[in-house]
Amino acid sequence: MYYFDNSATTPIHPRVSELMNDINIRIYGNPSSTYKIGKNARSIMENARIQIAKAISAEPNQILFTSGGTESNNQVLWSMIQQKRKHIVSSTIEHPAITRVLKFLITYGLNHNLADVNEDGIISIDSINKNLNNDTILISLMLANNEIGTIQPLEQVISIAHNQKIMVHTDAVQCLGKIKLNVSKLKVDFLSLSAHKFYGPKGIGVLYARHPEKLYPLILGGGQENNLRAGTENVSLIAGMGLAAEISTELLNEKNTMVEKIEQQFKSGLKTFFPKAQFNGCQSKKLPGIVNVSFPGNKSNILMAKLERVGIAVSNGSACGSGDIKPSPVLSSIGLNKETNLSTLRFSFGIFNTKEQVDFLLSNLKSILVCS
Ligand SMILES: Cc1ncc(COP(=O)(O)O)c(C=O)c1O
Repeated sequence: MYYFDNSATTPIHPRVSELMNDINIRIYGNPSSTYKIGKNARSIMENARIQIAKAISAEPNQILFTSGGTESNNQVLWSMIQQKRKHIVSSTIEHPAITRVLKFLITYGLNHNLADVNEDGIISIDSINKNLNNDTILISLMLANNEIGTIQPLEQVISIAHNQKIMVHTDAVQCLGKIKLNVSKLKVDFLSLSAHKFYGPKGIGVLYARHPEKLYPLILGGGQENNLRAGTENVSLIAGMGLAAEISTELLNEKNTMVEKIEQQFKSGLKTFFPKAQFNGCQSKKLPGIVNVSFPGNKSNILMAKLERVGIAVSNGSACGSGDIKPSPVLSSIGLNKETNLSTLRFSFGIFNTKEQVDFLLSNLKSILVCS
């Protein structure tokens, strides 16, 4: 298998799966139990909380474990129904774990507006300003987009928001290990992460909260996670995520250099035999490894099927929409017409990709692509 879909999910780092297996076998205690095996489980969990906090320059008591990016996003948005002010500003290129929740929350009296992005996928500060009103309580803006990789000017948005006592949430699910995250400098109020995007396991994530008392639980029951998420914690997933965060942030520069080299090899190689390739999103301000390309004259679902036949995995649109050949709303937002939208693929490279794999990808694309 030639895997170029690291933005959908990453393979688990071997050190992470080794650690999780060991914990599952040896340290099966309930972290709320007071005897030794329970205490051991708790200390493993709290160590992971410290690892995550360190990875994003937060305090451990600001880290809440959730089931992933979707739940973290939901918890922030749902918490807003308890606030007096009832309006949220977000953007037209957010993940469905934001946009679908926002639509649903209208029933609960929370309204929203979506700010526009430009043709590079960068949020327009003007559009943010225009959409704010006296009732706005939160701006939710992704730090980097999962389809085109564009990084948003979040510092600017936070300073505008805080001047008006508006909180800011960022979906940073695609970012850990790719760009430096420092929440204490950024002063963002809430931030979502998901372990399976940084070589950790699926089904586990983080919600960082600058002031955790602003959050309300989505799941009620026992008092776990400081009464913010009930249910016995999955210690091995949490520990795996902690280690994955540590590995990803420690190797950030080294990994990025490697992934950027592979990206350059791919982009320049592609241009030699398919000069009409159009790279979408801001190429100078984006996450390393995400390459979103339109192939005029070629249908993305046909390309994907042909690549799959030779063992190559890539995606069109976001993974959550795969199998669905509707145009991507993100690509529509940056101005792609329907035809171009449906001839676009996302290649996302990761630390386990090699130069030889990219050579294989390029030679297959060369024989598959129709150059009219
Ligand atoms: C930007 C973004 N937000 C949220 C999610 C959802 O995360 P999870 O799969 O952990 O629920 C994803 C996953 O594709 C994503 O890319």
